[in-house]
Amino acid sequence: MAILEVKNLNLGFQFENDFRQALFDVSFSLEKGKMLSVVGESGCGKTMSAMSILRLIPKTARITSGEIIFNGENLLSKTEREMQHIRGSKIALIPQDPMTSLNPLYTVGDQLLEIIKIHQNLKGEEAEKKAIEAFDAVQIPSAKSRLSNYPHEFSGGMKQRAIIAMALCCNAQILIADEPTTALDVTIQAQIMNILNDIKTNNDTSVLLITHDLALVSEYTDDIAVMYAGRIVEQAPNKEFFTNPTHPYSQALLKSIPSNRGEKLETIQGQPPALSQKIDGCKFNPRCEYCTDICKKEIPQPKQVTSNHQSCCFLIK
Ligand SMILES: Nc1ncnc2c1ncn2[C@@H]1O[C@H](COP(=O)(O)OP(=O)(O)OP(=O)(O)O)[C@@H](O)[C@H]1O
Ligand SMILES: [Mg+2]
Repeated sequence: MAILEVKNLNLGFQFENDFRQALFDVSFSLEKGKMLSVVGESGCGKTMSAMSILRLIPKTARITSGEIIFNGENLLSKTEREMQHIRGSKIALIPQDPMTSLNPLYTVGDQLLEIIKIHQNLKGEEAEKKAIEAFDAVQIPSAKSRLSNYPHEFSGGMKQRAIIAMALCCNAQILIADEPTTALDVTIQAQIMNILNDIKTNNDTSVLLITHDLALVSEYTDDIAVMYAGRIVEQAPNKEFFTNPTHPYSQALLKSIPSNRGEKLETIQGQPPALSQKIDGCKFNPRCEYCTDICKKEIPQPKQVTSNHQSCCFLIK
């Protein structure tokens, strides 16, 4: 069952002289208790898609159409007050720049206890017990003494865990994690992925994971959506995606993943287009080795490859 469905979301930015569209008919669904990874190169619209769900988009951005259905209700027609209740209580966010979500003036423990007070209505010893449990869950050692540290006394990986602990204490139904491991080294990346996986499995929380790193998610994610230049170009369950990727962009991303078989790595030629760049037809066509005439004229619509696998490419018959 889908807990969250984004349907035909269109968003753009107002520039001084023009309005430039950044998201084009973005649609995906997150199943209850599953992890969906949205993958794609920098600037393809991952963060804007995530922030639209929470309605935390920049002032110059505007959602022009679409629906975001959470538990059967459209979040785009909620009032700001209703959204404030949903943020944190129902849908928690681990933002792309985690350092901005810790206040340097308060201890990490005080910040965590505040969240526990608001979202779990606990105080005193009971709240502290919960805080220690949350630190234990994200594997912060010596949890009790660590609670009295200030953010600057934590390493990067430790700060990221503290933020995940805060998100955990919200008891939210959905956790949105925007590049939660990018600033961390490879061993810590794997630990954070394990923690997210445990949260999903133990608490039945649904996780929307945003990343540019397909290799990182392959072991953990249930479903994958690939974004390119503001569109979802392919989506499929994990196994189906890795065994039968059909979009040339997905195939190119997969070829650029390091394997341990010593194969030569391929990089994707060229750059994704800027918002100001006009490309007719499929936006991947200038970089696509299979490009034909129709690709330069028409925008490929989603085609069903199997019942739960869609891909937007004219190659698919
Ligand atoms: N405040 C803004 N004003 C104008 N354009 C913006 C703004 N924020 C983002 N954009 C543009 O919107 C598009 C999508 O940006 P978004 O941040 O969603 O990308 P992303 O996939 O999250 O990239 P990254 O992997 O670098 O985080 C990009 O072209 C970006 O330049
Ligand atoms: Mg981003």
